[in-house]
Amino acid sequence: MEEARTERWIRPRHFIFAALGSAIGLGNVWRFPYMVYDYGAAAFLIAYIILLFLIGIPWILMEVGMGRRMQRGAPGVFAGIGKKWEWVGWWPVCGAFLIVSYYTVIMSWALYYVGSSSVMAWGVGESGAKATEGFFFNQVLSISSGPGVLGSPTGLMVLLLAITWAVIFLVMHKGAPIIGRVSQYVMIISWILLVIIFIRGVTLAGAADGLNWYLDPNFADLLNIKLWFGAASQIAFTLSLGMAGMYAYGSFIARKGDVTNSATTVSLGNAATSFFAGYAVFSTVGYLTYAMAVPVEEVSLSGLGLAFVAYPSVLSLLPAAQGFFGAIFFFMFWFIGLSSAYFLAYGGVVTPLADKFGWNRVKTSLVVCIVLFLIGILYTTQGGLYWLDIVDRTACFYVLLLSGVLAAIAVGWGFGADNLRQHINETSDFSLGTWFNWVIKLVLPIVLLFVVIYGGFVKDLSEPYGGYPVWAASMIFVLLVVTLGVSFLPQLVKSGSSMDSGTSEERR
Ligand code: PFF
Repeated sequence: MEEARTERWIRPRHFIFAALGSAIGLGNVWRFPYMVYDYGAAAFLIAYIILLFLIGIPWILMEVGMGRRMQRGAPGVFAGIGKKWEWVGWWPVCGAFLIVSYYTVIMSWALYYVGSSSVMAWGVGESGAKATEGFFFNQVLSISSGPGVLGSPTGLMVLLLAITWAVIFLVMHKGAPIIGRVSQYVMIISWILLVIIFIRGVTLAGAADGLNWYLDPNFADLLNIKLWFGAASQIAFTLSLGMAGMYAYGSFIARKGDVTNSATTVSLGNAATSFFAGYAVFSTVGYLTYAMAVPVEEVSLSGLGLAFVAYPSVLSLLPAAQGFFGAIFFFMFWFIGLSSAYFLAYGGVVTPLADKFGWNRVKTSLVVCIVLFLIGILYTTQGGLYWLDIVDRTACFYVLLLSGVLAAIAVGWGFGADNLRQHINETSDFSLGTWFNWVIKLVLPIVLLFVVIYGGFVKDLSEPYGGYPVWAASMIFVLLVVTLGVSFLPQLVKSGSSMDSGTSEERR
């Protein structure tokens, strides 16, 4: 049996809150609602729920269960299966590193909007509502003409990024005990803010129309394969899987702690939050189309436009307290991002490094935060948005899904899905049947591979991703190969000796 960690969650519920914090993030508030809208509303929800049970819950059980079993972050888990597998754990570490490098920049935009919406900088009334797109792209981002024109960093955004990183460092540098405790407050405050936004939304005129678009079922869309690809990648993204961090969070669970009940609670709690956020967002969009008398098709709902263009337009049109609701919305947006960001930075990057090299966690956290802050400056330049999008495609689609395929194969066939199942069942509140073995061994890798081939390679190799010039779109594959190559390097180095340097909590 592997040497047990000394770093632990102080209470079992801390794992649930920390994992919920990682799962609930920007993806729940802008990605989920627009995907629902884009892909036939209730039809998407059906696919989402099916895939949540078919791949989401087994996958999170696999990551958390393996982390607890091996008492290590992702690379240690795979090195524990067999020395030659270690790289399978480093690849998602590279993914986590890339994702948090830009995720924090989106958080910084939100912080910018806390300030600018409190004074309604883009204006109120109909003229303000029409100015939001220009405000976001020209004033906030000063966007350039393409990825080849980088320009210079935006001073204010660099400052907001520094503040964001400073807060992340403060929460994470002492490790699991503090992360667990803080996550409870982050989650509860975020939910309260979301409820305030929900109440404001559903009490606006036109809200019912918005909810009708949100939930208008178009079952024929279930035959659209893209809907299933979209739902599968949303499940992985929203549950923060394939990003190394969940293994680390699992490794902080006490030896006798439950896995099944906690991981299922996290999955369902996250789905419920997404669904609820959809109500808050779409009721408000309903108001927008009502107040502006435009059809919903004309509202920019795709991607980040929902949060940074459509929502600010709604604020302009509110009858009163625009600044108040604006500040609440964008603070909530930053705040829910926070617990996902420290998950990525600490569980995804710091824990694997500290486990492997025996480095001090506080110092490693400091260095990782500084390096990631410096890389983040790239996205605050005028061409930054394009690069954010390109890196997002590499890390949050390819690395995430491909490393998920490899992990399922290594665990399912190398370690043995049945061994994992028995380990989980020994201490959990409810037991997994033998179905679990087949999901890990076959269903999970096959579904993910299918998504990555048909939803990714086939598409991106036939036309450049995002309509970018070929050289820029090719960077997706260059980065993919580079991160894969980097994943093999630590394997060549011998592991450091000390575990859990830095913080030590009681062994339990
Ligand atoms: N789950 C987060 C969200 O939905 O916003 C995003 C995220 C966090 C993705 C952490 C991946 C990750 F490892």
